[in-house]
Amino acid sequence: MADEQKTILDVQHLSIAYPISIGVVRAVEDVSFTLDDGEALGLVGESGCGKSTLGLSILKLQRPPGRVTAGKIMYRGTDILSMSDKSLLAMRGRSIAMIFQNPLTSLNPLFTVERHFLETIRYHDAAYSREKALAAVQTILAVLGIEKKRLKEYPHQLSGGMRQRIMIGLALIMNPDILIADEPTTSLDVIVEAGFTELLLELRRLYKLSIILITHNLGLVAEIADRIAVMYAGTIMEIATAQEIFDHPLHPYTQGLINCVPNIRVEQKELVTMPGSPPDLVDPPVGCRFAPRCPKVMDICRVKSPSLREHAPAHVAACWLYGKRED
Ligand SMILES: Nc1ncnc2c1ncn2[C@@H]1O[C@H](COP(=O)(O)OP(=O)(O)OP(=O)(O)O)[C@@H](O)[C@H]1O
Ligand SMILES: [Mg+2]
Repeated sequence: MADEQKTILDVQHLSIAYPISIGVVRAVEDVSFTLDDGEALGLVGESGCGKSTLGLSILKLQRPPGRVTAGKIMYRGTDILSMSDKSLLAMRGRSIAMIFQNPLTSLNPLFTVERHFLETIRYHDAAYSREKALAAVQTILAVLGIEKKRLKEYPHQLSGGMRQRIMIGLALIMNPDILIADEPTTSLDVIVEAGFTELLLELRRLYKLSIILITHNLGLVAEIADRIAVMYAGTIMEIATAQEIFDHPLHPYTQGLINCVPNIRVEQKELVTMPGSPPDLVDPPVGCRFAPRCPKVMDICRVKSPSLREHAPAHVAACWLYGKRED
């Protein structure tokens, strides 16, 4: 079929751990998901659930002392985790680019905006003349709505929203296949955030980007993502289309997460919260990691971990409420 989606990223049974003095933080445990060409996938979950660790691993980057303990990350048929350093350096930014969680710390305070762009371009392609590189920068600045005079400015002279735009520009300047955006709107006010959302949708259309959007902002994923993967304590609990996740969430964790979003159209005397807190990832619970907080917990949940299974068309969840118990 001509319009059949092609998978460009296939993460298979990925586990990542941080060995520390008191044990091992199992930050990502047996995570699998795919990303199709041109698709926007939202990765949501509470703080500390492993979203950034997972996002960084797609570029084979880890914060020390993190390391991948199992799994594969297949990008167009090649396992990123077994790529040579040379291939990785060529791949980062050119094939897969990332907007890191803290835009200020990701920019060099001693470099002007122009130098950030020129160094990025020349790093990937030394054959670019200064004129050709500046022409490419002009094009992206126009798309991002950044005035040319900003090129001579340093990061400390820019507002949070402008730094965010520069980061997006740097991520997109080499026209990557996949953009990983880690909490891209946390430093932005609601008006700038709305502008960012529109911009991302426009860039996606213009550059045919595939996007992994990491956030705990459910409103943002609702606007941008085609599909949503819900993470909890290092594991994926549910993956479905954005519509399905909001209309028919299967996992009690997803249901809790959605219930916690305040709705100004419905009179609520108190804000809904989720009782308890995420588990210690050095010593996670046996069985389902959400079991200690789950309002629908059953005996099996405390002894055996459920795997992701399809319970409705293109809708997978890791939950014994719907699963076969004999496996
Ligand atoms: N360098 C490190 N050493 C030890 N543990 C770490 C390190 N970096 C992260 N962790 C732990 O790994 C887990 C996942 O962290 P991560 O930053 O990936 O979460 P996150 O979902 O991105 O959180 P947030 O929403 O706050 O950005 C957390 O329990 C965290 O404490
Ligand atoms: Mg993070």
